[in-house]
Amino acid sequence: MEAVLIPGDGIGREIAASVVRVSEALETGIVWKPYQAGAAYYEKTGALFEEGMLEAIQSTGTALKGPTATPIGTGFRSINVQLRQMFHTYANLRPVHSIPGVKTRFDNVDLVIVRENSEDLYKGLEYRVDENTAHGIKLITRPASERIVRFAFDYARRNGRHKVTAVHKANIMKETDGLFLEAAKTVAGEYPDIRFDSVIIDALCMKLVTDPTQFDVLVAPNLYGDIISDLCAGLVGGLGFAPSANIGKDTVIYEAVHGSAPDIAGKGIANPTALLMAFEMLLRDHGMKEKADCLQTALKKALADTQAATPDVGGTGTTSAFTDAVIDGILENK
Ligand code: NAI
Repeated sequence: MEAVLIPGDGIGREIAASVVRVSEALETGIVWKPYQAGAAYYEKTGALFEEGMLEAIQSTGTALKGPTATPIGTGFRSINVQLRQMFHTYANLRPVHSIPGVKTRFDNVDLVIVRENSEDLYKGLEYRVDENTAHGIKLITRPASERIVRFAFDYARRNGRHKVTAVHKANIMKETDGLFLEAAKTVAGEYPDIRFDSVIIDALCMKLVTDPTQFDVLVAPNLYGDIISDLCAGLVGGLGFAPSANIGKDTVIYEAVHGSAPDIAGKGIANPTALLMAFEMLLRDHGMKEKADCLQTALKKALADTQAATPDVGGTGTTSAFTDAVIDGILENK
Protein backbone atom coordinates (compact mmCIF):
# COMPACT_ATOMS: atom_id res chain seq x y z
CA MET A 1 0.00 0.00 0.00
CA GLU A 2 0.97 3.64 -0.41
CA ALA A 3 0.75 6.23 2.35
CA VAL A 4 1.62 9.90 2.55
CA LEU A 5 4.32 10.80 5.08
CA ILE A 6 4.45 14.38 6.37
CA PRO A 7 7.46 14.80 8.70
CA GLY A 8 6.40 18.38 9.61
CA ASP A 9 8.29 20.77 11.88
CA GLY A 10 10.73 20.57 14.79
CA ILE A 11 11.27 16.99 15.96
CA GLY A 12 9.02 15.75 13.12
CA ARG A 13 11.85 14.79 10.79
CA GLU A 14 13.62 12.81 13.54
CA ILE A 15 10.55 10.83 14.61
CA ALA A 16 9.31 10.29 11.03
CA ALA A 17 12.71 8.77 10.18
CA SER A 18 12.18 6.37 13.05
CA VAL A 19 8.82 5.23 11.62
CA VAL A 20 10.33 4.65 8.16
CA ARG A 21 13.09 2.45 9.63
CA VAL A 22 10.61 0.49 11.76
CA SER A 23 8.28 0.01 8.78
CA GLU A 24 11.19 -1.46 6.81
CA ALA A 25 12.16 -3.77 9.68
CA LEU A 26 8.57 -5.00 9.90
CA GLU A 27 8.52 -5.56 6.12
CA THR A 28 5.15 -3.85 5.85
CA GLY A 29 5.65 -3.15 2.15
CA ILE A 30 4.29 0.37 2.69
CA VAL A 31 5.52 2.80 0.05
CA TRP A 32 5.85 6.21 1.70
CA LYS A 33 5.11 9.32 -0.31
CA PRO A 34 6.91 12.10 1.60
CA TYR A 35 5.67 15.70 1.47
CA GLN A 36 6.88 18.81 3.26
CA ALA A 37 4.44 20.91 5.24
CA GLY A 38 4.55 23.26 8.20
CA ALA A 39 5.92 26.53 9.51
CA ALA A 40 9.49 25.96 8.31
CA TYR A 41 8.26 25.13 4.80
CA TYR A 42 6.04 28.23 4.93
CA GLU A 43 8.96 30.46 5.87
CA LYS A 44 11.00 29.05 2.99
CA THR A 45 8.35 29.06 0.28
CA GLY A 46 5.30 31.08 1.36
CA ALA A 47 3.18 27.92 0.99
CA LEU A 48 1.93 25.77 3.87
CA PHE A 49 2.48 22.47 2.10
CA GLU A 50 4.17 21.05 -0.96
CA GLU A 51 2.28 20.94 -4.20
CA GLY A 52 0.64 17.57 -4.84
CA MET A 53 0.27 16.72 -1.13
CA LEU A 54 -3.50 17.13 -0.99
CA GLU A 55 -3.97 15.05 -4.14
CA ALA A 56 -1.68 12.35 -2.70
CA ILE A 57 -3.69 12.22 0.54
CA GLN A 58 -6.87 12.05 -1.51
CA SER A 59 -5.62 9.22 -3.70
CA THR A 60 -4.00 7.09 -0.96
CA GLY A 61 -6.62 7.87 1.70
CA THR A 62 -3.90 7.43 4.34
CA ALA A 63 -1.36 9.82 5.80
CA LEU A 64 1.03 9.65 8.74
CA LYS A 65 1.74 13.15 9.93
CA GLY A 66 4.42 14.56 12.19
CA PRO A 67 3.75 17.74 14.18
CA THR A 68 3.39 21.07 12.42
CA ALA A 69 3.93 24.35 14.26
CA THR A 70 1.29 27.07 14.37
CA PRO A 71 2.00 30.71 15.28
CA ILE A 72 0.23 31.77 18.49
CA GLY A 73 -2.32 34.60 18.30
CA THR A 74 -1.32 35.63 14.78
CA GLY A 75 -0.29 34.25 11.36
CA PHE A 76 -1.69 31.29 9.41
CA ARG A 77 -4.38 28.91 10.66
CA SER A 78 -3.26 25.53 11.96
CA ILE A 79 -2.43 23.05 9.18
CA ASN A 80 -3.94 20.30 11.31
CA VAL A 81 -7.25 22.09 11.55
CA GLN A 82 -7.18 22.84 7.80
CA LEU A 83 -6.43 19.21 6.89
CA ARG A 84 -9.20 17.99 9.20
CA GLN A 85 -11.65 20.33 7.50
CA MET A 86 -10.45 19.60 3.93
CA PHE A 87 -10.64 15.82 4.34
CA HIS A 88 -13.71 15.84 6.60
CA THR A 89 -11.92 13.78 9.22
CA TYR A 90 -14.70 14.35 11.69
CA ALA A 91 -13.56 11.92 14.37
CA ASN A 92 -10.33 12.11 16.31
CA LEU A 93 -9.63 8.82 18.02
CA ARG A 94 -7.13 8.94 20.88
CA PRO A 95 -6.46 5.73 22.80
CA VAL A 96 -4.57 6.16 26.07
CA HIS A 97 -3.22 3.26 28.09
CA SER A 98 -0.56 2.61 30.69
CA ILE A 99 2.70 1.24 29.37
CA PRO A 100 4.65 -1.24 31.50
CA GLY A 101 8.03 0.24 32.40
CA VAL A 102 6.83 3.84 32.13
CA LYS A 103 6.43 5.01 35.72
CA THR A 104 3.35 7.13 36.41
CA ARG A 105 0.89 7.62 39.27
CA PHE A 106 -1.44 4.94 37.84
CA ASP A 107 -0.54 1.69 36.13
CA ASN A 108 -4.01 0.67 34.95
CA VAL A 109 -5.19 3.46 32.65
CA ASP A 110 -7.11 2.22 29.64
CA LEU A 111 -9.21 4.94 28.05
CA VAL A 112 -10.28 6.02 24.61
CA ILE A 113 -11.06 9.63 23.80
CA VAL A 114 -13.29 10.33 20.83
CA ARG A 115 -13.00 14.01 19.97
CA GLU A 116 -15.34 15.78 17.57
CA ASN A 117 -13.00 17.22 14.98
CA SER A 118 -15.00 19.49 12.72
CA GLU A 119 -16.79 22.20 14.67
CA ASP A 120 -17.06 23.91 18.08
CA LEU A 121 -14.68 26.84 18.72
CA TYR A 122 -12.21 25.36 16.20
CA LYS A 123 -14.39 26.45 13.31
CA GLY A 124 -12.30 29.65 13.20
CA LEU A 125 -15.38 31.89 13.39
CA GLU A 126 -13.85 34.69 15.42
CA TYR A 127 -13.16 38.37 14.92
CA ARG A 128 -12.18 41.58 16.68
CA VAL A 129 -15.21 43.71 17.45
CA ASP A 130 -12.95 46.62 18.40
CA GLU A 131 -9.50 47.03 19.91
CA ASN A 132 -10.61 45.70 23.29
CA THR A 133 -13.20 43.10 22.36
CA ALA A 134 -12.97 39.81 20.49
CA HIS A 135 -15.85 37.53 19.61
CA GLY A 136 -15.70 33.81 18.84
CA ILE A 137 -18.54 31.54 17.79
CA LYS A 138 -18.96 28.10 19.32
CA LEU A 139 -20.73 26.16 16.62
CA ILE A 140 -22.41 22.89 17.64
CA THR A 141 -24.81 21.10 15.31
CA ARG A 142 -27.07 18.12 15.88
CA PRO A 143 -25.82 16.14 12.83
CA ALA A 144 -22.14 16.48 13.78
CA SER A 145 -22.89 15.71 17.44
CA GLU A 146 -24.95 12.63 16.60
CA ARG A 147 -22.30 11.47 14.11
CA ILE A 148 -19.46 11.64 16.65
CA VAL A 149 -21.46 9.98 19.42
CA ARG A 150 -22.49 7.20 17.00
CA PHE A 151 -18.82 6.80 16.09
CA ALA A 152 -17.99 6.42 19.80
CA PHE A 153 -20.68 3.78 20.36
CA ASP A 154 -19.73 1.86 17.19
CA TYR A 155 -16.09 1.94 18.31
CA ALA A 156 -17.11 0.70 21.77
CA ARG A 157 -19.11 -2.16 20.26
CA ARG A 158 -16.35 -3.22 17.84
CA ASN A 159 -13.68 -3.13 20.53
CA GLY A 160 -15.44 -4.78 23.46
CA ARG A 161 -15.80 -1.57 25.44
CA HIS A 162 -18.64 -1.25 27.94
CA LYS A 163 -19.36 2.41 28.58
CA VAL A 164 -19.53 5.68 26.68
CA THR A 165 -19.41 8.96 28.65
CA ALA A 166 -20.41 12.24 27.02
CA VAL A 167 -18.37 15.26 28.15
CA HIS A 168 -20.06 18.67 28.33
CA LYS A 169 -20.66 21.89 30.25
CA ALA A 170 -24.38 22.07 29.54
CA ASN A 171 -25.12 23.58 32.96
CA ILE A 172 -23.55 26.81 31.70
CA MET A 173 -23.63 26.54 27.89
CA LYS A 174 -27.22 25.44 27.80
CA GLU A 175 -27.71 25.85 24.05
CA THR A 176 -24.42 24.60 22.54
CA ASP A 177 -23.36 21.93 25.03
CA GLY A 178 -27.04 21.35 25.78
CA LEU A 179 -27.53 20.35 22.14
CA PHE A 180 -24.46 18.08 22.21
CA LEU A 181 -25.77 16.32 25.31
CA GLU A 182 -29.27 16.02 23.86
CA ALA A 183 -27.82 14.44 20.69
CA ALA A 184 -25.70 12.07 22.80
CA LYS A 185 -28.74 10.89 24.77
CA THR A 186 -30.71 10.29 21.56
CA VAL A 187 -27.94 8.19 20.01
CA ALA A 188 -27.30 6.29 23.27
CA GLY A 189 -30.86 4.93 22.97
CA GLU A 190 -29.78 3.02 19.83
CA TYR A 191 -27.12 1.08 21.79
CA PRO A 192 -28.83 -0.68 24.71
CA ASP A 193 -25.85 -3.06 25.05
CA ILE A 194 -23.43 -0.23 25.96
CA ARG A 195 -23.78 1.81 29.16
CA PHE A 196 -24.08 5.56 28.77
CA ASP A 197 -23.54 8.43 31.15
CA SER A 198 -22.38 12.03 31.02
CA VAL A 199 -20.01 14.21 32.99
CA ILE A 200 -19.34 17.93 33.29
CA ILE A 201 -15.88 18.77 31.94
CA ASP A 202 -14.45 20.32 35.11
CA ALA A 203 -15.61 17.42 37.28
CA LEU A 204 -14.19 15.04 34.68
CA CYS A 205 -10.73 16.60 35.02
CA MET A 206 -10.78 16.06 38.78
CA LYS A 207 -12.06 12.49 38.42
CA LEU A 208 -9.47 11.64 35.77
CA VAL A 209 -6.56 12.63 37.96
CA THR A 210 -7.94 10.86 41.04
CA ASP A 211 -9.26 7.64 39.49
CA PRO A 212 -9.08 7.30 35.69
CA THR A 213 -10.35 3.71 35.85
CA GLN A 214 -13.95 4.95 36.19
CA PHE A 215 -13.96 5.81 32.49
CA ASP A 216 -13.92 3.76 29.31
CA VAL A 217 -14.80 5.68 26.12
CA LEU A 218 -15.10 9.47 26.45
CA VAL A 219 -16.83 11.41 23.67
CA ALA A 220 -16.42 15.17 23.63
CA PRO A 221 -16.86 18.29 21.54
CA ASN A 222 -13.69 19.56 19.88
CA LEU A 223 -12.13 21.83 22.52
CA TYR A 224 -12.83 19.65 25.58
CA GLY A 225 -11.58 16.64 23.60
CA ASP A 226 -8.34 18.44 22.85
CA ILE A 227 -7.71 19.41 26.46
CA ILE A 228 -8.59 16.07 28.06
CA SER A 229 -6.39 14.28 25.51
CA ASP A 230 -3.33 16.05 26.87
CA LEU A 231 -4.48 15.50 30.45
CA CYS A 232 -4.88 11.77 29.74
CA ALA A 233 -1.50 11.66 27.97
CA GLY A 234 -0.06 12.96 31.24
CA LEU A 235 -1.64 10.02 33.08
CA VAL A 236 0.38 7.51 31.05
CA GLY A 237 3.75 9.24 30.91
CA GLY A 238 3.29 12.36 28.81
CA LEU A 239 2.80 13.51 25.27
CA GLY A 240 5.42 11.08 24.00
CA PHE A 241 2.86 8.26 24.48
CA ALA A 242 -0.29 9.62 22.89
CA PRO A 243 -1.16 8.61 19.32
CA SER A 244 -4.25 9.66 17.39
CA ALA A 245 -6.15 9.07 14.18
CA ASN A 246 -8.19 11.72 12.37
CA ILE A 247 -10.89 9.66 10.72
CA GLY A 248 -13.20 10.56 7.85
CA LYS A 249 -15.28 8.56 5.41
CA ASP A 250 -12.47 8.20 2.85
CA THR A 251 -9.35 9.46 4.61
CA VAL A 252 -7.46 8.76 7.82
CA ILE A 253 -4.61 10.98 8.99
CA TYR A 254 -2.59 9.37 11.80
CA GLU A 255 -0.45 11.53 14.05
CA ALA A 256 1.04 11.97 17.50
CA VAL A 257 -0.90 14.20 19.87
CA HIS A 258 2.23 16.18 20.76
CA GLY A 259 3.60 19.21 18.95
CA SER A 260 6.91 20.03 17.28
CA ALA A 261 8.79 20.32 20.61
CA PRO A 262 10.99 23.25 19.51
CA ASP A 263 12.93 23.08 22.80
CA ILE A 264 14.49 19.74 21.86
CA ALA A 265 14.30 19.83 18.03
CA GLY A 266 17.54 18.85 16.32
CA LYS A 267 19.06 17.40 19.50
CA GLY A 268 18.30 13.81 18.51
CA ILE A 269 16.55 13.03 21.80
CA ALA A 270 12.87 13.16 20.79
CA ASN A 271 10.76 10.20 21.84
CA PRO A 272 9.32 8.62 18.67
CA THR A 273 6.91 6.36 20.63
CA ALA A 274 3.70 8.36 20.00
CA LEU A 275 4.26 8.46 16.24
CA LEU A 276 5.21 4.77 16.27
CA MET A 277 1.97 4.08 18.17
CA ALA A 278 0.06 6.08 15.53
CA PHE A 279 1.80 3.91 12.95
CA GLU A 280 0.66 0.85 14.93
CA MET A 281 -2.94 2.12 14.61
CA LEU A 282 -2.40 2.45 10.85
CA LEU A 283 -1.15 -1.15 10.64
CA ARG A 284 -4.19 -2.46 12.56
CA ASP A 285 -6.60 -0.51 10.35
CA HIS A 286 -4.98 -2.05 7.27
CA GLY A 287 -5.24 -5.64 8.42
CA MET A 288 -1.61 -5.96 9.57
CA LYS A 289 -2.47 -7.12 13.11
CA GLU A 290 0.55 -9.40 13.51
CA LYS A 291 2.96 -6.64 12.53
CA ALA A 292 1.14 -4.20 14.85
CA ASP A 293 1.40 -6.70 17.75
CA CYS A 294 5.08 -7.24 16.98
CA LEU A 295 5.68 -3.47 17.06
CA GLN A 296 3.74 -3.12 20.32
CA THR A 297 5.84 -5.82 22.02
CA ALA A 298 9.09 -4.33 20.72
CA LEU A 299 8.08 -0.85 21.90
CA LYS A 300 7.32 -2.08 25.42
CA LYS A 301 10.67 -3.83 25.60
CA ALA A 302 12.61 -0.82 24.33
CA LEU A 303 10.81 1.51 26.78
CA ALA A 304 11.82 -0.71 29.68
CA ASP A 305 15.49 -0.39 28.66
CA THR A 306 16.74 2.82 30.35
CA GLN A 307 19.80 2.98 28.13
CA ALA A 308 17.63 3.02 25.01
CA ALA A 309 14.69 5.08 26.31
CA THR A 310 14.79 8.84 25.67
CA PRO A 311 15.32 11.46 28.45
CA ASP A 312 11.63 12.46 28.68
CA VAL A 313 10.98 9.03 30.25
CA GLY A 314 14.07 9.02 32.41
CA GLY A 315 16.32 7.19 29.97
CA THR A 316 19.66 8.22 28.51
CA GLY A 317 19.04 7.14 24.92
CA THR A 318 18.68 9.07 21.68
CA THR A 319 15.91 8.84 19.08
CA SER A 320 18.07 6.63 16.88
CA ALA A 321 19.32 4.41 19.75
CA PHE A 322 15.71 3.91 20.85
CA THR A 323 14.71 3.09 17.26
CA ASP A 324 17.58 0.57 17.11
CA ALA A 325 16.23 -1.07 20.27
CA VAL A 326 12.71 -1.26 18.79
CA ILE A 327 14.09 -2.79 15.60
CA ASP A 328 16.14 -5.33 17.62
CA GLY A 329 12.91 -6.31 19.39
CA ILE A 330 11.09 -6.68 16.07
CA LEU A 331 13.83 -8.87 14.62
CA GLU A 332 13.81 -11.04 17.78
CA ASN A 333 10.04 -11.54 17.52
CA LYS A 334 10.00 -12.43 13.85
P1 NAI B 1 4.79 20.31 22.37
O1 NAI B 1 3.95 19.09 22.42
O2 NAI B 1 5.57 20.51 21.13
O3 NAI B 1 5.82 20.31 23.60
C1 NAI B 1 5.43 20.30 24.96
C2 NAI B 1 6.56 19.68 25.81
O4 NAI B 1 6.58 18.26 25.58
C3 NAI B 1 7.96 20.19 25.42
O5 NAI B 1 8.75 20.29 26.57
C4 NAI B 1 8.50 19.11 24.52
O6 NAI B 1 9.90 18.99 24.51
C5 NAI B 1 7.84 17.86 25.08
N1 NAI B 1 7.62 16.85 24.02
C6 NAI B 1 6.63 16.86 23.09
N2 NAI B 1 6.75 15.81 22.29
C7 NAI B 1 7.83 15.13 22.71
C8 NAI B 1 8.48 13.94 22.26
N3 NAI B 1 8.03 13.23 21.20
N4 NAI B 1 9.59 13.53 22.90
C9 NAI B 1 10.04 14.20 23.97
N5 NAI B 1 9.48 15.32 24.45
C10 NAI B 1 8.38 15.78 23.82
O7 NAI B 1 3.82 21.55 22.65
P2 NAI B 1 4.06 23.10 22.44
O8 NAI B 1 5.45 23.47 22.87
O9 NAI B 1 2.91 23.72 23.08
O10 NAI B 1 3.90 23.33 20.87
C11 NAI B 1 4.99 23.49 19.97
C12 NAI B 1 4.43 23.67 18.58
O11 NAI B 1 3.76 22.48 18.16
C13 NAI B 1 3.41 24.81 18.45
O12 NAI B 1 3.68 25.53 17.27
C14 NAI B 1 2.08 24.09 18.33
O13 NAI B 1 1.15 24.81 17.56
C15 NAI B 1 2.48 22.81 17.62
N6 NAI B 1 1.57 21.68 17.84
C16 NAI B 1 1.31 20.86 16.79
C17 NAI B 1 0.52 19.75 16.94
C18 NAI B 1 0.31 18.86 15.77
O14 NAI B 1 0.85 19.11 14.70
N7 NAI B 1 -0.46 17.80 15.91
C19 NAI B 1 -0.10 19.42 18.24
C20 NAI B 1 0.28 20.31 19.31
C21 NAI B 1 1.08 21.40 19.10
